[in-house]
Amino acid sequence: MSNTEGKVSVVSTGNVEIDKRLGGGIPLGSLTMIEGQPDSGKSVLTQQMVWGSLRNGLLVTVLTSENTVKSLVHQMRAINLDILDYCLLGKLKIYPIGATMAKVGPEQALRRLLEAVGRQRGRGVVVVDSLTSFISHAPMEDVMGFFEGCKTYCDHGMTIVVVIHSYAVEQGMLVRLSSLCDAHLRLNIENLGERLMKSLEVAKVRGAQKATGNVVSFDVEPGWGMRIIPVSKARA
Ligand SMILES: Nc1ncnc2c1ncn2[C@@H]1O[C@H](COP(=O)(O)OP(=O)(O)O)[C@@H](O)[C@H]1O
Ligand SMILES: [Mg+2]
Repeated sequence: MSNTEGKVSVVSTGNVEIDKRLGGGIPLGSLTMIEGQPDSGKSVLTQQMVWGSLRNGLLVTVLTSENTVKSLVHQMRAINLDILDYCLLGKLKIYPIGATMAKVGPEQALRRLLEAVGRQRGRGVVVVDSLTSFISHAPMEDVMGFFEGCKTYCDHGMTIVVVIHSYAVEQGMLVRLSSLCDAHLRLNIENLGERLMKSLEVAKVRGAQKATGNVVSFDVEPGWGMRIIPVSKARA
């Protein structure tokens, strides 16, 4: 998605339908929190954002606690997102962050992670997937501090997407974190009778070009990625 000068102004998911639900895409310069239970599609959603951003010519960095470079390339290829060339050209940088935690303990680890995010200044989009292991044993002020630090970076032009497991922090804390963020996307697994259905709830997108559609059901298909399921089908 472009603005009037033809310059990219949003983080696209590379999927028109999903971008539409996000009000046209998440504006650059935003701090976004993606929150949800395990297997709800958090990583797949970030992978689509990575892809959409690369396709729009942005430089992207992924800080991942879940993958190695190799496993992320492999995983994204399985939903038809081939990032290898972008990696080789340096347009996509992937840094595993899992070991940081084990080395220095929760408080230090959060600070180091914030510094690592800050070092990506100048790149288009930075994704942290996920923050969960960094926050589950950290004092709340430190978690707030991490988000405040990210927000400051965003105020200076960075675009940051942070993934967290919903149950890693208390509800009250989630509300506070959400109010710090420009965009808040909540993923869920709903039980609709016999079938489980994933849903994406657009809790907020500040500065969206259009009104956001609040909840949408989707599935993750091999070789395709996120596919929106029409309500009629979802409820059938
Ligand atoms: N390549 C794929 N093909 C089919 N299903 C996939 C693929 N990648 C992920 N999934 C499914 O999508 C769901 C969401 O995965 P993921 O985004 O990794 O969840 P989360 O990060 O929220 O834990 C899971 O049920 C997973 O099995
Ligand atoms: Mg994940």
